[in-house]
Amino acid sequence: MAGQPRKKLNVNRASVVHRARYAARHPERVVPYLRRTARDLWLRARHRDHVGYYRAVMASDAARDPAAAVGSRSHQRWLALGLMQFDYLREHGLTPAHRMLDIGCGNLRAGWRFIDYLEPGHYYGIDISPDILVSAKKTLVTYELQAKLPYLTISGDLTLDFLPDGHFDVVHAHSVFSHSPIEVIDECLAHVGRVLAPGGFFDFTFDRTEGREHHVLREDFYYRTETLVGLAERHGLKARFMDDWERLPHGQSKLRITAGGA
Ligand SMILES: C[S@@+](CC[C@H](N)C(=O)[O-])C[C@H]1O[C@@H](n2cnc3c(N)ncnc32)[C@H](O)[C@@H]1O
Repeated sequence: MAGQPRKKLNVNRASVVHRARYAARHPERVVPYLRRTARDLWLRARHRDHVGYYRAVMASDAARDPAAAVGSRSHQRWLALGLMQFDYLREHGLTPAHRMLDIGCGNLRAGWRFIDYLEPGHYYGIDISPDILVSAKKTLVTYELQAKLPYLTISGDLTLDFLPDGHFDVVHAHSVFSHSPIEVIDECLAHVGRVLAPGGFFDFTFDRTEGREHHVLREDFYYRTETLVGLAERHGLKARFMDDWERLPHGQSKLRITAGGA
């Protein structure tokens, strides 16, 4: 597909060799990268736990540009990335009657489309960042979706303990585990089965590597598929690699989690 970002599955972005080669190819990005490194070191020194650290990263990014904070270079990309998520779930059977939990909903890049489509009260977005949730509320106003009464809630962990058993037909986390250490993913997988309705599923994207697992600045994490499939199995869940997502112009891969017997 035109414009499709090629997945570079064997690159270790944390290695010195990769970074030196990248700097030689993109000298204009060296200063911004050094600035980001310095900021992240400072934030990590102040926030020892990952959620606290990443919340501070989001506060800093969202203050500059909420669309960029959720990973979109422009409003046009923000719209396109939201549409891609929405179309994919619709093609996979999402109906207005479904109840949806959107983990790491950001500023509703896709969320506003789900809210518009689902029945009132059927969308539940959670995020660790109060700054991005303020921006999410602005998105709701922009698209005049007040009557849909979505829930937008701040979260501090992924135990999902404040949500009812068996409630959600679809749980969704787009571009969240690509920013999460394994303990955060493990916590989510330990608890998500409880909130899934019978026949429900949990889709999440991740940055895939076929080489060594690594992270960059503890902002971007790269996992092997089998690591995440194995983690799901340890929590009694089944994980399916979504081949049709690979055909879309998106750099991450997608797994679908269902209850073990489903
Ligand atoms: C790249 S943005 C994607 C936002 C949204 N899913 C989208 O596609 O537009 C990642 C979002 O996940 C949130 N996030 C990161 N870690 C999280 C966690 N452990 N629990 C909930 N939200 C998290 C961030 O605050 C941020 O809003």
